[in-house]
Order: sequence, then C-alpha cells, then structure tokens
Amino acid sequence: MKIAFLGGGNFGGNLAELLVTAGHDVVVGLRNPARARPGARYRVVSLEEAAAHGDVVVIAVLYQACAEVLPSLAHQLAGKVVVDATNALKDDWSPLPLGADGSAAEAIGHLLPGARLVKCFNTVFADIMTPDRIDRGGHAVTAFIAGNDVQANTTVAGIAESAGFAPVVTGPLNYARYLEAMAHLNIQIAVGRGGGTNAGFVYHRALA
Ligand SMILES: NC(=O)c1ccc[n+]([C@@H]2O[C@H](COP(=O)([O-])OP(=O)(O)OC[C@H]3O[C@@H](n4cnc5c(N)ncnc54)[C@H](OP(=O)(O)O)[C@@H]3O)[C@@H](O)[C@H]2O)c1
Repeated sequence: MKIAFLGGGNFGGNLAELLVTAGHDVVVGLRNPARARPGARYRVVSLEEAAAHGDVVVIAVLYQACAEVLPSLAHQLAGKVVVDATNALKDDWSPLPLGADGSAAEAIGHLLPGARLVKCFNTVFADIMTPDRIDRGGHAVTAFIAGNDVQANTTVAGIAESAGFAPVVTGPLNYARYLEAMAHLNIQIAVGRGGGTNAGFVYHRALA
C-alpha cells in the first residue's frame, strides 16, 4: 500500500521503517527534505508530494504544527484515509487542555474536511516501534483505533497488523479522547515517574 507520512521525526521515522519492512511503498514528507534521516529506507519528499503519494497519510508532526501544516493540504487529503497519531502536549509533556469533550483528533478533523480520519498509533512510544520491541514477551503491542469510517478503520487495522501490532478498533472518532488520555497516562508514567519509554499497552481479551 502507498503510505505517506507528514513529518519524519522519532515517531514518523520509526513507524515508516516498520512499514517499509512490512513491504509498503512508504514516503516521508518533510518541510525540508534535505534534512532526511541518515540511512532511511523510505523516500523523503516534500509535504505536498507526500500528501499526493499516500493512499493512507499519517500525520506525524507535533499537534501544535497541524494548524500550520494541514490546511494547505486539505484538498489533497479529501477522500483519503488520514491517520492522526498526535498527542496534544505542552513543553513539559503534560496534556494541552482541549476541553472536557474535545480531542486532538476532532480538532484536526475540522482542519481536514472530507478526510477519512482515523486515530491510531498515538498510544505507542516511538522507542518501541522496532521489530525487537514491538513484541512484549510474545504479545504484540496494541494499536488502538478510533474513527467514524468503518472501512478506513479496517484499512488502518490491516496496516497496523502488517507492521506487527495487534489492532483493536474501539469506536467512533470521538473515542479518540480516550486514546489520547491513555497516551497522556503512558507519557506521565514514562517521563513524570521516570518509567522510561520502553513500555507499551497490551490489551488482552479472553476469547471464551
Ligand atoms: N515520539 C513518540 O513516542 C510518539 C508516539 C506517538 C505519537 N507521537 C506523536 O507523533 C508526532 C511527532 O512526534 P515526534 O516524537 O516524532 O516528534 P519529533 O521527533 O520532534 O518530530 C516532529 C516532526 O514534525 C515536523 N514538524 C514540526 N513542526 C513542523 C511544522 N511547523 N511544519 C512542518 N513540519 C513540522 C518536524 O520537522 P523538522 O525536522 O523539519 O522540524 C519533524 O519531522 C507528535 O504529534 C506526537 O505527539 C509521538
């Protein structure tokens, strides 16, 4: 599948590598493509080229950059599956308040009318997006998914599974607020409590 990233920092770069390993056609869009990560196995292009390339486009810039980056790409992203992986954070890693009944995903949805928006990967630390760390003692790290478009959710679940995650579709896009709260908890344990980022959520559901 043609997958594009908007942004290629720790998160975008690591997930892009996992998806190259999974056999996808991956490009990473940067505002300055000359600043590509050394040794990257994906193609680095401009943000506009990335938006045009991807059948699925992953938002991998900081939440605060979205209002600057996304509006000019909105026409290209209309009709595409767009994955929001952002967490709205202050500089001290604490949550940026978005209101009791809001979420970063829904705010991004307003910037991208027509995109088939799916929240995913925001609960997974970039540091465990490597083949050796994505498996936690025989259990794949969970990729929680929230979105209104059932087909888009299924597409993203398939991509997550191909990369080695265990996908779980949780509900509509407004469930992103729960996924974002999970990520904030994860970050507070890792950074605030000194637990470190070699950690992740494994959702276990008994089948019978
Ligand atoms: N790191 C994690 O463990 C993790 C896990 C899950 C989700 N996320 C989410 O993933 C996103 C990226 O996080 P990260 O850790 O990869 O951050 P990062 O390493 O700081 O990388 C940020 C990326 O965003 C780009 N960027 C920043 N401001 C921009 C702007 N105004 N216009 C265009 N590009 C801009 C940067 O480009 P330049 O190189 O040009 O500055 C870089 O490619 C965030 O929303 C974060 O919440 C991160």
